[in-house]
Amino acid sequence: MNNISLNIDKTAGFIAEGAVKAYAPKVQEALEMLEKGNGLGNDFLGWLHLPSSITEEHLNDIQETANTLRELCDVVVVAGIGGSYLGARAVIEALSNNFHCYLKGNNPAIIYAGHNISEDYLFELTEFLKDKKFGVINISKSGTTTETALAFRLLKKQCEDQRGIEVARKVIVAVTDAKRGAARTTADNEGYKSFIIPDNVGGRFSVLTPVGLLPIAIAGFDIKALVKGAADMEAATAPEVPFEENIAAVYAATRNALYADGKKIEILVNYQPKLHYVSEWWKQLYGESEGKENKGIFPASVDFSTDLHSMGQWIQQGERTIFETVISVENTNHSLVVPTDEKNLDGLNFLAGKHVDEVNKMAELGTLLAHVDGGVPNLRIVMPKLDEYYIGQLLYFFEKGCGVSGYVLGVNPFDQPGVEDYKRNMFALLGKPGYEAETEAIKARLG
Ligand code: PA5
Repeated sequence: MNNISLNIDKTAGFIAEGAVKAYAPKVQEALEMLEKGNGLGNDFLGWLHLPSSITEEHLNDIQETANTLRELCDVVVVAGIGGSYLGARAVIEALSNNFHCYLKGNNPAIIYAGHNISEDYLFELTEFLKDKKFGVINISKSGTTTETALAFRLLKKQCEDQRGIEVARKVIVAVTDAKRGAARTTADNEGYKSFIIPDNVGGRFSVLTPVGLLPIAIAGFDIKALVKGAADMEAATAPEVPFEENIAAVYAATRNALYADGKKIEILVNYQPKLHYVSEWWKQLYGESEGKENKGIFPASVDFSTDLHSMGQWIQQGERTIFETVISVENTNHSLVVPTDEKNLDGLNFLAGKHVDEVNKMAELGTLLAHVDGGVPNLRIVMPKLDEYYIGQLLYFFEKGCGVSGYVLGVNPFDQPGVEDYKRNMFALLGKPGYEAETEAIKARLG
């Protein structure tokens, strides 16, 4: 099998010649820090060798639980937020039929909750589930995240009311900490099947634990192929691999070189709508890992060619502080040719006989040339096709690139101290026990 590849030719002219290579020693140091576990956040490096160390037994256990839910449920609700949600959604959307939510197939429909606090969303969800044989995966490492816990409280009650306590116990699964948190307490008390999120794997790096693998297996995808892809990328990005051949190293070096040169925003681009949630996952991975100490590239994303008709103008001619990283999928999974039309009223006969993907690829190439001409450096990640194996490679490539890039930037890529601030205010405003002093302080501030 080929590996996915990275092309940085279209950054030439934007940064000094040799600027990327100049980062090679720092990148090597970062790779070795990850490997030796002597860098910042080294108690969260469990993701590093996860693909090569997952046992067959563990994967079979996940698959067996997935099979039970597949058998007993038409719909499975994945309750989780951030790192406990985006990885599963990214992979499931990337591999599913674009119209899967309207299709009745052999796989249970996977839907999501616990990633917002919208009353309308939760009301409409409970309405939708009213006549459905549904199950729930409650995913939370801390086991105390408000968004997820609130959704799970509603879903647990509805599942028990609709399906009876006994069936509910079979179709509710917890993925959480081994010992701590309300999700663990509930799972143990109710006798739910549960999976452990390892202590040393942070949320945004947890897609290859049961956090991601269980929902992905329930959706009907081959988790062994996904892990194999990731394991091959783990080997391809090891510290022993020469700099030029190590795509995670080159990616980390290039984005740091561009950042140092004033490119503060990285836009992840796709030409396949199925990759929308890969971008959402990537934004969390890089945003939460690097955005601290008043530094870090701002990760943004667009879906082309859709967004060429909206954000395309800004990218072509707006402030020149951006660069693009394009995910290019070489081969389609289906074949569709543009038909000839005798009357040619739409004037599209020049495309007749061409595959739709050829048109898409020319949009991609035309855009790349235009954006480079407009002052936007472009990196290009090429994936042979969208399947479990290559998605596994892509996920691990981005994880490794992120760890290395964060160390080169000089931050701890594995913590997220900033996300606590809104929670403290929200709890104080809602009168959560233990937050009395903060409540008083906020009252005084708001007058
Ligand atoms: O990456 C992270 O650490 C976060 O995005 C968490 O995954 C998110 O806040 C959910 O946390 P938890 O799994 O504890 O509910």
